[in-house]
Amino acid sequence: MNFMTRKKFLKLGLASGAVLTVPQFLQYCSSVETRKYYERKDPLDPTFLSGSESPILKAIRIGISAPNPHNIQPWKFKILSEDSALLYVDDTRLLKETDPPFRQVHIGQGTFLEVLSLGASRFGYKAEISLFPEGKYTTKDVGKKPIAKIILKKQDAILVEPISLFISERATKRSIYEGEDLTEQDFSAIRKDANIRYSELGFIPKSQSETLRKQVVSAMNVETYTYPKYEESRIWFRYNDSEMEKFKDGISMRGFGVSGLRNFVARNFFLTPGKEIWHSDDNKKGGMDIFASQVESSKGFAFIKTSKNEPLDWVQAGRDYARLHLSVTKNGFALHPLSQILQEFPEMKELRTQFESSLKPGEKIQMLVRLGRSDYRFFSPRRDVQDFILR
Ligand SMILES: Cc1cc2nc3c(=O)[nH]c(=O)nc-3n(C[C@H](O)[C@H](O)[C@H](O)COP(=O)(O)O)c2cc1C
Repeated sequence: MNFMTRKKFLKLGLASGAVLTVPQFLQYCSSVETRKYYERKDPLDPTFLSGSESPILKAIRIGISAPNPHNIQPWKFKILSEDSALLYVDDTRLLKETDPPFRQVHIGQGTFLEVLSLGASRFGYKAEISLFPEGKYTTKDVGKKPIAKIILKKQDAILVEPISLFISERATKRSIYEGEDLTEQDFSAIRKDANIRYSELGFIPKSQSETLRKQVVSAMNVETYTYPKYEESRIWFRYNDSEMEKFKDGISMRGFGVSGLRNFVARNFFLTPGKEIWHSDDNKKGGMDIFASQVESSKGFAFIKTSKNEPLDWVQAGRDYARLHLSVTKNGFALHPLSQILQEFPEMKELRTQFESSLKPGEKIQMLVRLGRSDYRFFSPRRDVQDFILR
């Protein structure tokens, strides 16, 4: 394959005249639609919900299906009883390069809590959640002090919010979006179902997003061309099916929304593990081309903003973000976060400051996402629930 650069080959995509052997072709066909063995199982599967596992383990298993940065799954739990536990950040799973204040990792604590809470209602439990049960919490306490104490209470009658029905179907979709731009009415329906509690939710129609689209692509460019930041993505990148099955975490080509023949080609011919190819110009340019086309295909944007920027705001914004994503799913749309421009490492400062210039002092945009429609299906893996439990 040396006669063609990776970038050119990726661009050829499905239209390519790549010659595949029969077994390769069958493998490609079979990878298009079916859910692979390593993909996230349905945590609301009735067989599992009616099984003998304790209520708290059932609830945790649902909670860990939550969106979380780079799918690092940064959670650990101390089980207190059959129906209670403490949640901690797993400090062996941080993104120190791209998330130096650990803001995103705390958003991921909030997403977990919200999905757990909505999920527990599906098998008749109300989740009582007390944040920072050991009092004052700073980022020096990461991994040491709990983020939350969770107590499940059995209820005879419980309100099941409609968005909780979409926990199984929710997935980050990074593919090219199709169809019409989202209208204000579309977003009103999303806003109503999300019913977020702690932050401000904003909508930017596609027609008003020209500058934003350029800014998010520039921010991805900065991340890609700042070696330690891009290296962090490589560390969490799972190159093939056996790595996905082994680690059950991280990001992947399928997770990037590149499927079918393009994915087959990329995985088999270009994505050779190792630093050299990952950081090669061809690889970085190819990645940037894919990202720019994804952003261009967006049909609208949304953001979650808080009035302060402390660990409590991060966790609460995470709870709101999980609700937003479930509501987007319920309303038949797709969502893809674009966090690069929000990130706090020095090389991003200029772009971030420009992007945040209209905010009031203390405010922070915690999540920025693109919206659209996509039939793309990929359920990122999760580790076994027992791997999260402190012994
Ligand atoms: C705080 C936070 C930041 C994220 N930032 C990005 C991002 O910049 N780009 C991206 O593609 N996905 C981003 N994601 C989505 C995660 O990568 C995704 O949730 C994770 O891989 C698990 O996949 P799932 O959402 O399909 O379950 C972010 C998620 C969270 C919670």
